[in-house]
Amino acid sequence: MTSKFHDPVLATETVELLVTNPDGIYIDCTVGGGGHSRFILEKLSQNGRLIGIDRDEEALTEARNVLDNRAQLLHSAFSNIAAAINDFSSDPADGILMDLGVSSHQLDAEHRGFSYRFDSPLDLRMDASKGTTAADLLKRLSLEELTDLIRTYGEDSQARRIAKAIHAEQNSRPITTTTHLADIIRRSVPATQHKSIPRVFQALRIAVNAEMAELEAGLIGAWSVLKPGGRLVVISYHSLEDRRVKLFFSSKTSPTDSAIGPAALIPLKPTGKRITRKPITPSDRELKLNPRSRSAKLRVIEKL
Ligand SMILES: C[S@@+](CC[C@H](N)C(=O)[O-])C[C@H]1O[C@@H](n2cnc3c(N)ncnc32)[C@H](O)[C@@H]1O
Repeated sequence: MTSKFHDPVLATETVELLVTNPDGIYIDCTVGGGGHSRFILEKLSQNGRLIGIDRDEEALTEARNVLDNRAQLLHSAFSNIAAAINDFSSDPADGILMDLGVSSHQLDAEHRGFSYRFDSPLDLRMDASKGTTAADLLKRLSLEELTDLIRTYGEDSQARRIAKAIHAEQNSRPITTTTHLADIIRRSVPATQHKSIPRVFQALRIAVNAEMAELEAGLIGAWSVLKPGGRLVVISYHSLEDRRVKLFFSSKTSPTDSAIGPAALIPLKPTGKRITRKPITPSDRELKLNPRSRSAKLRVIEKL
């Protein structure tokens, strides 16, 4: 199943590992174009229910068109999952999916500013109805803050050099478009450092959408509304995300009490069981059909 909006990544694997009860309640925290949700609904009976969350209204419009009436959709950030779900269901969930990152639609829609392939306003917000755009963020950041942001979220070794160039340009001619920003980065690093442009865009996107804080709050919230025996499936796309997912899973499968100091960690009873020992990655066939799946890592944990 391919879609102009977004091709779901590791769809077969996700659904096989996620859906254990055809009559159950499932939450897709990142419904996007409804790709994974459609696969989930195919495995559910007429009694099964799906709650789809996305912070992007354009995604919800698409999902509304492709999903049937067993799906209820909600415009929200997934950090808010526990409160949001209360409005739909008093029962805990049988399974929860988080397919992190951006959709193809977000990357390919000229007006969203996610890609430097187009000359667009430098926006990068997933929820275009609120928050700060990347252009506004650049206006506010000091040189130190910008360097930190590019180093931490873009993992670029040229962070200082790039930040200096952006900062200098910002002071003379504010950067408001994607191509303007890409030009400054291109001119600030040697031609061999072509990866710096996507890295800086990634860093800005993570900051504008508070992606790391969202992920941490989303994992905690998802765990709190999951049934014992229910599963949490997370697909991550870069090491910053995957690291947080791994740490969260370890805190459930091998919890420790460090109350008397880190030197004497006391093992506690696990509250989760890892279903995948190693992350699942796309097959060669999927990589060929959908190159955007290349960095995907799928991990699954079951609540005890
Ligand atoms: C990779 S896409 C999901 C695609 C979807 N699984 C599909 O198959 O169509 C990620 C989606 O998650 C949404 N998203 C990212 N972070 C979010 C958050 N913190 N809260 C809610 N939605 C979020 C994005 O707006 C985007 O639509």
